[in-house]
Amino acid sequence: MSRARDQYETHAHDVLVIGAGGAGLRAAIEAQAAGASVGLVCKSLLGKAHTVMAEGGVAAALANVATDDSWRTHFRDTMLGGKMLNNWRMAQIHAQEAPDRVRELERWGAVFDRTRDGRILQRPFGGHSHPRLAHVGDRTGLEMIRTLQDRAVASGLAVYMECTITRLLTDGDRVIGAIGYWRTTGDMVVFRAKAVVLATGGIGRAYQVTSNSWEYSGDGHALAYEAGAELIDMEFVQFHPTGMVWPPGVRGLLVTEAVRGEGGILRNNENDRFMWRYLPDERRHEYAETDSEASRWVEALREGRQTDARQPPELSTRDNVSRAIYTEVREGRGSEHGGVYLDISYLPPELVRRKLPSMYEQFRELAGVDITTGPMEIGPTCHYVMGGVRVDAETGASTRTGLFAAGEVAGGMHGANRLGGNSLSDLLVFGQRAGVGAAAFAKEVAPDKPGSGELALAGTELAAPFDHHSGTNPYRLHAELQATMQSLVGIFRTAEDLETAIERLGELRAKWATIEVSGPRAYNPGWNLTFELKNMLICSEAVARSALQRTESRGAHSRIDHPDPDPAWAKRNSVVSRDGDQMRVGHSRLPEMPAELRELITP
Ligand code: FUM
Repeated sequence: MSRARDQYETHAHDVLVIGAGGAGLRAAIEAQAAGASVGLVCKSLLGKAHTVMAEGGVAAALANVATDDSWRTHFRDTMLGGKMLNNWRMAQIHAQEAPDRVRELERWGAVFDRTRDGRILQRPFGGHSHPRLAHVGDRTGLEMIRTLQDRAVASGLAVYMECTITRLLTDGDRVIGAIGYWRTTGDMVVFRAKAVVLATGGIGRAYQVTSNSWEYSGDGHALAYEAGAELIDMEFVQFHPTGMVWPPGVRGLLVTEAVRGEGGILRNNENDRFMWRYLPDERRHEYAETDSEASRWVEALREGRQTDARQPPELSTRDNVSRAIYTEVREGRGSEHGGVYLDISYLPPELVRRKLPSMYEQFRELAGVDITTGPMEIGPTCHYVMGGVRVDAETGASTRTGLFAAGEVAGGMHGANRLGGNSLSDLLVFGQRAGVGAAAFAKEVAPDKPGSGELALAGTELAAPFDHHSGTNPYRLHAELQATMQSLVGIFRTAEDLETAIERLGELRAKWATIEVSGPRAYNPGWNLTFELKNMLICSEAVARSALQRTESRGAHSRIDHPDPDPAWAKRNSVVSRDGDQMRVGHSRLPEMPAELRELITP
């Protein structure tokens, strides 16, 4: 570390990883193993990562429970779930490499639940044709972070905690580092790096009702966009069907899909198991036709037996289940607090407590509900963004030289809708690849110094909110942004709403430039929020503009004014890029899928 002439710390590494959730940790471990010197930056404390909110499991075709599972069926399910908009090569690599990445995690100390004969246990999840999710009760993400964190720390890489990155540094041709500040002091810090990996997660805090933790403000998406990289498919925002709806303080908190994977049943206020009515015609044959067939399936899987029964309707894909719940509530069949009922209380209490310990505690502590004796009230919550930085499937390289991305911040892998459990396997597979890619790139280039102009600009940006006297309050602005996104760019969309949203976002952007904060820079939450707001505004505009452009409904993007998929959009990714101060939105053609993979999908 050095302290430069103008009083900021400078650190230099071959590879700088921004974000220390699963993808960032996995990339950092790999880059360090490849001989690079690695710096890992996290906005909060190491281990406090949103990855822990993927509770129900990591998807990998280990074939421990369903012996006929394979990477081919996993690939097929992922592509069908993504409505064929996925980057097929990413989906292929993901399905092929996920089992090795899970076994590797086990070698590194992760403790998974077990089958009776001692193999990693796998549970069913929505849109997966086979029980495929390796899990640790309903705390899988937590166990993964614990394991990766131990491994990363033991490898000796440098960890920089409580550090917010506000800008990527470029030398005109490539990304050469990043600049930010310590949240503990407010002092500026510069990181010089030959390669930068973004692993900052998603954008959920732009919405009012979200499962995402406070760190999820679209930082990496916005940093990449500002540095000139392309974002793709930003219109595809996933609303997880089951978040808590009551009490208000925990609205949006995730209720894991594992509840449905273990047999949870959705009902409306008329006690109707409504999901039967919402199965899409083209996939109806994959689901059970009666309650008793659905029960047979659940029972067989719990006992680790194969069965000819088909899966329950609650295990339809997330986009479909969320729309169904939203519709039930809108049409007056919702629960007391504006959700529907999810019931697992018909199972033996001991089993529920063993399989879903966190959910049992969560509802008992936060809502005063015992899920072994009565139903939960749940409703959709913003959970994940399928869109992100356009990357090369093999290396994680973005369209900006020297910049890589992995995990939720990267786009392409999940197409128009992600299957549950595929995010944990995504971050392992592509975190590892981005680590290799960034380390290899770093070997080929010499370090470069940031220009003094860029550093001065970053310093001015950091100081500006303290100099304003506008009365513009960052918290009020955040609330306005969230209300706009929730009401106008939510589960169902129209051109009129999206146009209104884009106009309002423009007004909020103008207000953002005048935000006033006071107090010291150390641990100043209003000041911290100011920079996150800038990122959320960029991401929100990208979502709204891409959603307006896509005049069809596909996966998680539902247009009331264009209710069907349009073949003209079937092979097009939306592309967002920066053109001076303007956001440019266009589209590009999906690469053609090889015939042998196409055959897997339409046998
Ligand atoms: O429901 C869940 O446990 C979430 C998993 C995921 O988003 O992959």
